[in-house]
Amino acid sequence: MEKKLKKLSKKINIYLNNYLSKFNTSELILPMKYGLFPGGKKIRSKIIFDIGKIFKVKNKDLLTLAASVEAIHAYSLIHDDLPCMDDDKLRRGKPSTHVKFGESTAILAGNSLLTTAFEILSDKNFKVDDKIKSKLINILSRCSGQTGIAGGQYLDLSYEKKKVSIKKILNMELKKTGKLFEFCCIAPLIIKNNKKNLNSFSKIGKDIGLLFQIVDDLIDYKGKTKFAGKKTQKDKKKGKATIISLLGYKNAVKYANKLKQNIYKKLKAQNNNANDLRETINFIMERNS
Ligand code: IPE
Ligand code: IPE
Ligand code: MG
Ligand code: MG
Ligand code: MG
Repeated sequence: MEKKLKKLSKKINIYLNNYLSKFNTSELILPMKYGLFPGGKKIRSKIIFDIGKIFKVKNKDLLTLAASVEAIHAYSLIHDDLPCMDDDKLRRGKPSTHVKFGESTAILAGNSLLTTAFEILSDKNFKVDDKIKSKLINILSRCSGQTGIAGGQYLDLSYEKKKVSIKKILNMELKKTGKLFEFCCIAPLIIKNNKKNLNSFSKIGKDIGLLFQIVDDLIDYKGKTKFAGKKTQKDKKKGKATIISLLGYKNAVKYANKLKQNIYKKLKAQNNNANDLRETINFIMERNS
């Protein structure tokens, strides 16, 4: 799996680097590239390619989707680490973007990566039907803004040091992380105009995102900074509301396992075509970074 992810990462980084190099006119390109490269695991992109494989979507189109998602993800991490948010100084094994370039530059580089995602999708080189293109842009916007990442990040911060219900925690995790995974799972279907499987893959995407965030919380609880590339044991100190803070570590592991079983049930209909996706889900569960 690590090998597959590395190969994919290389492809996406080349795409993004080429894209940004076309507009090498701004001082912001440097901090943007710092936040993007070499980057993280590329799990969201892997899911786009796994789903693309099930529904036979062109690799070129999948690459465009993946590049736009990684740009948004990189933006979300730059802002997540800011002193006014999680105040983290280490990201992906190096100083966070605001530590390296200053807060205002990090905010602007983050904003620019967010808009880069939509530049990429609306670019004339992305050769899909205009109706499909605007649908993709519409859904990705809703996964990123107040109904998605930004809304979830707001809740994450406002729940600090508060006792909140499991329903609220799940809703927060769904927004801050789940929605972007949902986009990864449905975007390839939208390209194929496949309406039949849209609902079920929208649910699968949200569940994978939720699972991903719960495992991220478990890594914070028990993982090592050396592997994670970011400081661990921070959520408790900050009073973050997580499934772990509410139910304890063991029950959070149980919850994650149940979620995985649920996703597997939903994937049954895809038979062996979903084997790559199953492998990615296992990797999400077993990773230490
Ligand atoms: C970290 O995401 C932030 C969360 C949504 C939990 P990743 O674990 O995918 O980060 P990278 O891209 O691999 O660094
Ligand atoms: C971040 O969640 C979710 C985002 C949308 C960026 P975390 O705050 O738990 O992510 P890490 O642990 O800092 O990567
Ligand atoms: Mg956070
Ligand atoms: Mg954080
Ligand atoms: Mg975390």
